[in-house]
Amino acid sequence: MTLPRVKKALNIDTETLVALKVMKPNTLDTKLEKEISALQMLKHPNIANIIEILYKASYKKKNGKVVTRDVIVMELADKADLFAFLKLSFNLSPSGFPEPILRGLVRQLVEVVEYCHQNGIVHRDIKPENILLDAEYNIKLADFGWAAVIDNKYHKTIAGTK
Ligand SMILES: Nc1ncnc2c1ncn2[C@@H]1O[C@H](COP(=O)(O)OP(=O)(O)OP(=O)(O)O)[C@@H](O)[C@H]1O
Ligand SMILES: [Mg+2]
Repeated sequence: MTLPRVKKALNIDTETLVALKVMKPNTLDTKLEKEISALQMLKHPNIANIIEILYKASYKKKNGKVVTRDVIVMELADKADLFAFLKLSFNLSPSGFPEPILRGLVRQLVEVVEYCHQNGIVHRDIKPENILLDAEYNIKLADFGWAAVIDNKYHKTIAGTK
């Protein structure tokens, strides 16, 4: 995992590893709610599915300071995100992914995007950093912080990277 705010943890009830997305203290409630409500409407093998939300969870940081944050507990995508995987693969083989691997990744991506749209959610920030890979190198789409419900309204917000 590249960013310190998404941490790996052991769920002691299920004895599985999970990802904890610790929300920054200044995260707008609306952004958090958007991410949570989109994730709660979806469940798919190619999404980093939500497990539970911990509102105002307190925990001790390495420096001993106790902080309180909202935390999204979700399925862990154990391997790198697609951006890191692309970079690594490029160093090994500058001609790109072998076609069978690429075909598998693209098929999963198209399927999961179609699933989101069929369930009324548009992600609006699909980019390699938000396409994660699990232990078997299956796609886990993540980061629904910019997601919107399909409501036939014209959305004027600029979403994602310019
Ligand atoms: N479920 C997960 N399993 C493993 N790693 C994850 C998971 N979710 C996120 N990550 C890692 O953390 C990084 C940041 O997560 P995410 O994209 O959700 O946050 P963000 O980009 O900071 O979000 P936002 O755009 O809402 O501020 C990802 O690129 C990925 O490397
Ligand atoms: Mg992201």
